[in-house]
Amino acid sequence: MSTVVARTRDELAVAREKLHGTVAVVMTMGALHEGHAELVRRARERADSVIVTIFLNPLQFGPNEDLAKYPRTFEADLELCEREEADLIFAPSPDVVYPNGDPGIRMSAGLLGAKLEGASRAGHFDGVLTVVAKMFHLTRPQLAFFGQKDAQQLLLIRRMARDLDFDCEIVAVPTVRESDGLALSSRNRYLSALDRESALALSKALHAGHDARTRGSAAVRRAARDVLVAEPLVLVDYLVLVDPETLDDVPEWYQGEAVLLVAARVGTTRLIDNRPLWIGGSL
Ligand code: PAF
Repeated sequence: MSTVVARTRDELAVAREKLHGTVAVVMTMGALHEGHAELVRRARERADSVIVTIFLNPLQFGPNEDLAKYPRTFEADLELCEREEADLIFAPSPDVVYPNGDPGIRMSAGLLGAKLEGASRAGHFDGVLTVVAKMFHLTRPQLAFFGQKDAQQLLLIRRMARDLDFDCEIVAVPTVRESDGLALSSRNRYLSALDRESALALSKALHAGHDARTRGSAAVRRAARDVLVAEPLVLVDYLVLVDPETLDDVPEWYQGEAVLLVAARVGTTRLIDNRPLWIGGSL
């Protein structure tokens, strides 16, 4: 099967009309990897037609971030979409998505968007939610698939869909990992062999925290921190154990669902990872 590529709004409208049944969207910034392939496969299982958007959204990058050097691999992305039988790729340029330049009116991710990733990336989630909202309007899906690796992004997209009555089900897909535990990310390709070895400390720390879950939240934090401090090439931005709905730190006496999140710089690359767990239980 060959995947149709739409670059303009008109091309998208024509191709969207031809899709049948339930339509799912997988939104990406390109540089697709097995994590994206898994999103497309999950979408295929639930929907009759699958759209993949490929758009490197300038609005979600800060002035000192890696927009210019972000990998652009359209031919390989197209191959992956064809292999996974996506029906349609929408790959617009910035002037198609933002025909009037930077939008003066944008989504606000509010207080939740100012925490964790938002604390070091001001405006990042406003930019993410603005483009996600626009892609919802342009592609009109009934289902949208997002990876759990970007836990805060997923939470904010769910909130936006709920709070602003987007008529679309948001489906979470578990993080895909290499066999040694490294979470797949488009940014992994920046890692040198030594960086990559050091980056394993992130998933190992989450694993250690998970192993300590029956001993309470302080034990989870300690176990994860001990792994990270033992790896000198990993510069931790945050390691937090939080309530999955509020992203507030869980107290010492807490029992129940939580998520352990880490962000760190390895060499010049900033990586994030997370693991849901049940404090005092077995999740
Ligand atoms: O997760 C991403 O790749 C991006 O943040 C998204 C959701 C495609 C919006 O640009």
